[in-house]
Amino acid sequence: MMQAGTYQERRGEIETYFDQTAMTAWAKLTSTAPVSGIRAKVRAGRDEMRNTLLSWLPADMTGLRLLDAGAGTGALAMAAAARGAEVVAIDLSPALIALAAERAALSPYANNIKFHAGDMLDPAYGRFDYVVCMDSIIHYAAPDAIAALRQLAARTSRAVLFTFAPRTLFLGSLLSIGKMLPRRDRSPMIEPQSEANLRRVFAIGRSHRVSASFYISQAMELPL
Ligand SMILES: C[S@@+](CC[C@H](N)C(=O)[O-])C[C@H]1O[C@@H](n2cnc3c(N)ncnc32)[C@H](O)[C@@H]1O
Repeated sequence: MMQAGTYQERRGEIETYFDQTAMTAWAKLTSTAPVSGIRAKVRAGRDEMRNTLLSWLPADMTGLRLLDAGAGTGALAMAAAARGAEVVAIDLSPALIALAAERAALSPYANNIKFHAGDMLDPAYGRFDYVVCMDSIIHYAAPDAIAALRQLAARTSRAVLFTFAPRTLFLGSLLSIGKMLPRRDRSPMIEPQSEANLRRVFAIGRSHRVSASFYISQAMELPL
């Protein structure tokens, strides 16, 4: 079931941001093109995060269905497909999904991935063994992020792996600096979450925080 109110408003803002405002920058950040300074650190932090999530998935995923929820340019989808998984990669941004499909076409595992522009919560995509939300629910306020994880968990058999932005003093100060920037220069609001609150709501398995400068994100496993 789709959610109303804040979720849909935020979803619209996220789609505009990733499909238009930040499309070119995001394409570059997720490529192998050289980047410098802060972007290189963010890229390294995100590589560590993706590798963490992949290390929590089986090495052989033959016959398993995986949803890359908020797939962006599809790096995780491609890695899961290379392990034999049947991958569904969904993103709100048609431009990013088109780029993901273009990049995947170069891989021998391209046939293992179905790409769709749409909402990761759409039940039409069916059931999965695993769902991975890498930095895709970080833009939703706690009630919407928790409701999204519940909806995804309801159609998953083995585990939902997700990341959230932990509420830390450092991240808090970065976000306050961000709020002083002109609107056009801001990334879509990241909504820091309380780890304790997530642990109250869900029975969490493994957890790993990546705390590189300018990239702070924490992975959690929700075993089912
Ligand atoms: C920070 S990017 C991360 C992309 C990718 N997971 C990665 O780590 O490279 C977040 C992505 O989540 C997508 N997203 C956010 N909410 C979504 C939703 N409800 N349905 C589908 N995609 C969503 C955005 O469009 C964006 O591409």
